[in-house]
Amino acid sequence: MSTIVPQIKLSENGPSVSRIIYGTWHMTGVDQNNEHTLSAPENILSRIKACLAAGITTFDLSDLYGFYQFEALFGEALKLEPEIKDQIQIITKTDIVKPCEAIPKCRIKHYNTSREYILQQVNRSLEMLGVKHIDLLLLHRQDMLMDADEVAEAFKLLHSEGKVLHFGGSNFTIQHFKLLQSRLPFPLVSNQFEFSPYEMSALTDDRLDYFQRKRIATMAYSPLGSGRLFSKNPDEQTRRLRAILEQTAADLGPDVTIDQVCYAWIMMHPAKICPVIGTTSLDRILTAAKSVRLVLDRQQWTEIWSASTGTQVP
Ligand SMILES: NC(=O)c1ccc[n+]([C@@H]2O[C@H](COP(=O)([O-])OP(=O)(O)OC[C@H]3O[C@@H](n4cnc5c(N)ncnc54)[C@H](OP(=O)(O)O)[C@@H]3O)[C@@H](O)[C@H]2O)c1
Repeated sequence: MSTIVPQIKLSENGPSVSRIIYGTWHMTGVDQNNEHTLSAPENILSRIKACLAAGITTFDLSDLYGFYQFEALFGEALKLEPEIKDQIQIITKTDIVKPCEAIPKCRIKHYNTSREYILQQVNRSLEMLGVKHIDLLLLHRQDMLMDADEVAEAFKLLHSEGKVLHFGGSNFTIQHFKLLQSRLPFPLVSNQFEFSPYEMSALTDDRLDYFQRKRIATMAYSPLGSGRLFSKNPDEQTRRLRAILEQTAADLGPDVTIDQVCYAWIMMHPAKICPVIGTTSLDRILTAAKSVRLVLDRQQWTEIWSASTGTQVP
């Protein structure tokens, strides 16, 4: 099928993932009728199948999504068609501890990267998802109290047991990434952070230079500003972005949409950034997949940068 999203290796010894990754966070929320129907296993399955039909094989989760219940629902969805397990890669994350029913002793949102907590949460994720291994485990947020030796101990054990195949960071600075890497006998394979025409700091704070140098593909969450691009009350930056994205879409072809242009803008960067898309719409999953065909030129890319900043490049 011509809409197939290609696979990409996150790093030399890293896993192959789809160039566009499906993010599950919005499926844990309420739908337009204010009902929690999106996270029903049948609905999760239909999104997984729409992704697979488009070549999107990699799914981004976290232990905390859906108040620590979503992994179990995703696992239920996989049980409906067990052969799907062999066709997908699962990314999950841990370290955020948030007060809710599932964690009654938690008084304040905090991070936990202790050996004990990482092992406990990975074992829980495996059980809830009903899978033998996690393809890629990310530490969700940069823990100010991270003891890299302790994390490394947990990672080495999980790796030797075959429970987690690869490890990476999420929202990591370069220094934090290097610190954890310095204690590990195997390479961290990726870093996931916010990146879009709304959040471009990775372009100038050296992150994308560093990961390009290391030939490590990164993952961009909230590629549409977490839906801000489609806000009913758009702010000034959103108005500017919409205008240029609409113009670029029209120049690229009759059916091109502004979300596709956004994804193509992200993928144009040579650091090989994989957008983690957040739409829950079956149609928009297919639209997103088709964006791998779009190629912007340098002026189109820069016009979007300029619309975001409200300035020209120096
Ligand atoms: N590592 C981290 O700390 C972290 C943080 C945040 C997110 N993430 C991951 O990244 C994924 C994506 O993030 P995100 O959900 O913020 O991404 P996003 O793609 O920027 O935003 C998704 C939102 O945009 C809306 N949307 C998309 N296309 C639209 C269109 N054409 N018209 C109107 N609305 C549209 C979606 O609504 P519809 O569902 O109606 O399309 C959804 O509410 C998450 O699911 C999660 O897996 C990771």
